[in-house]
Amino acid sequence: MKEKVKTILDALEKDISGAKAPQDIVDLKAKYIGKSGSITDLMKNMKDYSPEERKEIGQIVNEAKNKASDIIVKKEEEINTSILNEKLEKEAIDVTLPATEIPTGSPSILEKVIEDFEEVFMSMGYDVVDGPELEEDKFNFELLGLPKGHPARDAQDTFYVKGDELLLRSHTSPVQARVMLSKEGKEPVRIICPGKAYRRDDDDATHSHQFTQVEGLIVDKNIKLSDLKGTVTVICKKLFGEDTVTRFRPSYYQFTEPSVEMDISCFNCKGSGCNICKNTGWITIGGAGVVHYDVLKGCGYDPSRWSGFAFGFGAERCAMLKYGINDIRSFYNVDLREIKAFDRKEEN
Ligand code: PHE
Repeated sequence: MKEKVKTILDALEKDISGAKAPQDIVDLKAKYIGKSGSITDLMKNMKDYSPEERKEIGQIVNEAKNKASDIIVKKEEEINTSILNEKLEKEAIDVTLPATEIPTGSPSILEKVIEDFEEVFMSMGYDVVDGPELEEDKFNFELLGLPKGHPARDAQDTFYVKGDELLLRSHTSPVQARVMLSKEGKEPVRIICPGKAYRRDDDDATHSHQFTQVEGLIVDKNIKLSDLKGTVTVICKKLFGEDTVTRFRPSYYQFTEPSVEMDISCFNCKGSGCNICKNTGWITIGGAGVVHYDVLKGCGYDPSRWSGFAFGFGAERCAMLKYGINDIRSFYNVDLREIKAFDRKEEN
């Protein structure tokens, strides 16, 4: 019996040295220690032996089985370890490789211009105020000196949502009327209201039915046109460069008296003439004026005690001038190539 066992174990050693895959281990287990494996088979004819012999054979076979099992399990572990190592090596990540760049979006250049306005005005004590884009006729027109049927409404024709009372605001001035009314003529006002405005326009390179304004209002005691000029000059120097010169031309708005058109010296040619300023040396950036007597009154302020000035800048126009964008529609279309050109990521 001992010889038989030795022959079997020798055969196992030989087989095991050739085992490479997990399946070889499964096969070897079946061949030697499985239900009809060669070691298990040694117990087959036990009934032909005496009880003492049976005991002895049982012991020898059991030992052989344990030994065979140890040999096979050891090999199994070796195979599993080498498979794992191979896998780890194959799938190794080189942490020193440069990372794959994940494309991410960034705020638009228009947003940057608005933020620049906000920053300068806030540094001068202005609050940034928001208001509804869907506005009532009363706030958008009536309170601003534009009663129904006024010819100047044509220039601010907009999108009417419900009859002729609810509309998409044609400027952000209604926010100013709302703020004045909310203060009930008791407190000074110092606000800017950046936001979207809408007009019934035929879209082209310089016109858009949707655009952005940065309007502002100050109401306090003894505010004069010279305060407006001083404030706008400081703002323009901050936004367009310290050597910027401002110019104010007489104009007409229903909600301001006197009204002005605000020009800055061309930051590109410094006044000598180029295609940005159309060879005039000046660029118009918005309208402004001293708040009209009727507007103050209609919004709850006593015009004999309070006065103020208001102004409005076109945000797209400023961005187009500053960054050389020649089509206003580029702010609203989704051409990623155009957006990429003004990517602000490197600034952050
Ligand atoms: N609301 C005017 C517009 O949209 C701009 C403006 C604001 C003019 C304040 C004067 C004073 O055209």
